[in-house]
Amino acid sequence: MQVILRQLGDCSIRRAAPSDLISVMEINLKTLPEHYSDYFYESLLKELPEAFLVAEIDGKIVGYEMCKTEFGFSNFKKLGFVKKGHVVSIAVLDEHRKKGIGKALVEESVIGVKSRNCDEFYLEVRCSNTDAVRLYEKLGFVIRLELNAYYRDGESAYLMAIEVD
Ligand code: ACO
Ligand code: ZN
Repeated sequence: MQVILRQLGDCSIRRAAPSDLISVMEINLKTLPEHYSDYFYESLLKELPEAFLVAEIDGKIVGYEMCKTEFGFSNFKKLGFVKKGHVVSIAVLDEHRKKGIGKALVEESVIGVKSRNCDEFYLEVRCSNTDAVRLYEKLGFVIRLELNAYYRDGESAYLMAIEVD
């Protein structure tokens, strides 16, 4: 049985199931230049199902977010290693953007990484991706670093992070 985390009009936000992964990969191919192997999607779903989420309208997947957890240096100058949630990828199909689906996905994933006792949540985003940067800023993420030539095409990324505990 699928547990719906949030309903936004006709759009349900829920945890992904293995049978959703093909649709997730299709959306990734359509919307982003960074792609991953089938195995990588499966392993993220296995490792952090609380923050591998899909948005579904009338039985069709229209958006996803997938995350992982890591131990590493704090993005907020905390001493020692911290446990961090990491947004690996998020996308919503073009025709379903600007309805609040992206915001709902990120908000629900924050709850997911909190449940795994993460101290911080972070992501990288292209500096030119103003839609995404604005969404993250609205949700409380702040730009902590600029990562020079982070992407294969040479573009730089912002590392954006939020404290979640
Ligand atoms: N009516 C009108 N506008 C609305 C409504 C509504 N009902 N609901 C939300 N909005 C507005 C929001 O206020 C926001 O406006 P703003 O940009 O002026 O602040 C805007 O719509 C977007 O917010 P959402 O609807 O919550 O987000 P959306 O579902 O459009 O998804 C996303 C955002 C995921 C970035 C999308 O643009 C996308 O898929 N882009 C391509 C892929 C991509 O770039 N992904 C991020 C890469 S970085 C990474 O993966 C870590
Ligand atoms: Zn990343």
